Amino acid sequence: MRILLTGAGGQLGRALQVALERHQLIALERRELDITDPAAVREALRRHRPELVLNAAAYTRVDGAESEPEAAFAVNAEGPRHLAKASAAGGIALLHMSTDYVFDGTANCPYDESAPANPRSVYGASKLAGEQAVREHNPRHLIVRTAWLYHTVGHNFPTTMLALAGRGEVRVVDDQRGSPTYAPHLTAAIARLIESGAAGIYHLAGTRHGPGSLPLTDAVSDGFRQQHWQNTIDYRPVQRAILLNLDRWVRESIEPPPSLMPRIGDGTAVRRESLREVFMSIPGMGFLKALPVRRRLDFGPEMDRGLPHYPPKEGEPFVTLVSGVDDDGNEVAGIRLPDVSVPLGTYTGWTMRHPDTGAGGQFIPLQGAVLPFPRSRQERQALGDPRPALEERYGSKDEYLGKVRAAVQDLVRERYILEEDVDRIVAGAAARWDAFHAVEHLSPMLKDQVATR
Ligand SMILES: NC(=O)c1ccc[n+]([C@@H]2O[C@H](COP(=O)([O-])OP(=O)(O)OC[C@H]3O[C@@H](n4cnc5c(N)ncnc54)[C@H](OP(=O)(O)O)[C@@H]3O)[C@@H](O)[C@H]2O)c1
Repeated sequence: MRILLTGAGGQLGRALQVALERHQLIALERRELDITDPAAVREALRRHRPELVLNAAAYTRVDGAESEPEAAFAVNAEGPRHLAKASAAGGIALLHMSTDYVFDGTANCPYDESAPANPRSVYGASKLAGEQAVREHNPRHLIVRTAWLYHTVGHNFPTTMLALAGRGEVRVVDDQRGSPTYAPHLTAAIARLIESGAAGIYHLAGTRHGPGSLPLTDAVSDGFRQQHWQNTIDYRPVQRAILLNLDRWVRESIEPPPSLMPRIGDGTAVRRESLREVFMSIPGMGFLKALPVRRRLDFGPEMDRGLPHYPPKEGEPFVTLVSGVDDDGNEVAGIRLPDVSVPLGTYTGWTMRHPDTGAGGQFIPLQGAVLPFPRSRQERQALGDPRPALEERYGSKDEYLGKVRAAVQDLVRERYILEEDVDRIVAGAAARWDAFHAVEHLSPMLKDQVATR
């Protein structure tokens, strides 16, 4: 792999050069690339065209940062931001090094990746800001936090002690606890992380929480209805393939197929609000009256000891991005089963409460919808539906099933579907073709709406 390493002259940078020597490594020391210079960062990426940027550059003088916060933030927060933006623009992955200083150090149990960050020092705050910038600007990122590095070379505790040992009495702080990390152990793990591809995030385009099935129904549970037909996409064949891919990855080191998900970098991850226009233009689809909002929750200072304080304090809402959609309202990113790539309708991972159930137009968790295309041109024109009708898309059922089979074969080649599931998926598509033609394509709700227009 072609890897551009920043901060190559540092303690970790030097150890990484050894661990990654089997790769095509462009190792840049500070004098060759200053990460606080956005133009220089863009130029370096343009010139070297790496597949991965590995950021080991940092302002690491923990005590010094207290008196020079601007310098610390420039290298530890703004530098990673420039790297993240430039790498995202080129679709390049970014591995960013961070630190245990993002935590406050008061926990009496190990910190895991989801432990709340609460830096107590300028250095820790600047490193946390760097992590956030990386997350925000490059969806293809890995963040590796490490603690208390030591090596036979560079500035670290053992080398300092060895140097002092020759000078007689040694005076050392005795109130610090930590878990030292031998740099070559860390760099070997980083090499494995990079070489594994660290893949495996799959978005199932157009599906709801659980797999769907026929018959078409708007019943969510006894007496409780949704506004549209329930989503019929059965994604279980994808899960079977993914499970086998995972097993092969672990046992035989066969890489799983690449992650497929909406990405900010290629414009397929979009804000939910931006989809309103497409869905509102489809008669009967509509859009949620209010989009559900998830907020950051603060359960208090004892949460990491398992003692949450209730009620939690609500913080800033999370930004929620979803897949963009095509003109039919179908998702463009993720694993697209033939339901979505050779569609019979518009499939969503959301739907609304039916007015008969109360609170019409409000969100129903976990449910999804399908709004079949009009069957004929005449039906489409009567409804003013912008989506081409089934008869306009497919000359016949055979033609449709031929396209479904070709789409499934593509997924088999890409390893998102198993060969043995192809016939079953085509048979399911045939059943849906019949079902979508047998009903007047409108759900009972839409029928009422159209009748009153
Ligand atoms: N050392 C630890 O105990 C420890 C613990 C946890 C996490 N980490 C993290 O591990 C990473 C590497 O740390 P390290 O121990 O290798 O630190 P280091 O030995 O201080 O290396 C940092 C390197 O970054 C370079 N650098 C500083 N400013 C730069 C800039 N503006 N542009 C480009 N390069 C710049 C430094 O160059 P100059 O020397 O010329 O300034 C140095 O070569 C950092 O992200 C750090 O936060 C380290």
